Amino acid sequence: MNREQALEMVRQQLPIKRYEHTIRVMETALDLAEHYQLDLKKVELAAIFHDYAKYRDAKELKRWIIQEQLPQDLLDYHQELWHGPVAAKMLEKEIGICDPEIQSAIYWHTTGKQHMSQMDKVIFIADYIEPGRSFPGVEEVRQVVYDDIDKACWMAARNTIIFLISKNQSIYPDTFQLYNEGLGRNLNAE
Ligand SMILES: [Fe+2]
Ligand SMILES: [Fe+2]
Repeated sequence: MNREQALEMVRQQLPIKRYEHTIRVMETALDLAEHYQLDLKKVELAAIFHDYAKYRDAKELKRWIIQEQLPQDLLDYHQELWHGPVAAKMLEKEIGICDPEIQSAIYWHTTGKQHMSQMDKVIFIADYIEPGRSFPGVEEVRQVVYDDIDKACWMAARNTIIFLISKNQSIYPDTFQLYNEGLGRNLNAE
């Protein structure tokens, strides 16, 4: 599947603003993939499809989580976390792309996790730093991402945890594990 075909499939699923976000994630992810010498074609597809399921309604996402035997604890957390794991499944069942590396990057793009692959990290952080983002702290993450992508992912996880706590929202355990993993590498020592 080429870039145009993939983009067209996603364009039909998303409102224009989210589609434009997807294009920016793709461009950011490809720059990072080139820098870190990853498979550009795979990174491109993962970026294009990462938000494929984001505008399916909650009932449909819930049905996929149950029927595809995704972790049922997802249902105890905010539905914002559901679209990554479901899109990873939809990629296989609706689009016909079965590639564990691409699917993993899509799966984990919202929460992150510990022991992410380089491709997981690129999609996770491209989604966080694409030029349309303006979260507090995002500029600092942009400044380190080409030198130390692990540190960038840790900073993104930390910022997300702080934000969610400030809103009294629950935090998925894998995000904590990503944060703790970075602490273990002394990423906070500076
Ligand atoms: Fe997303
Ligand atoms: Fe996204």
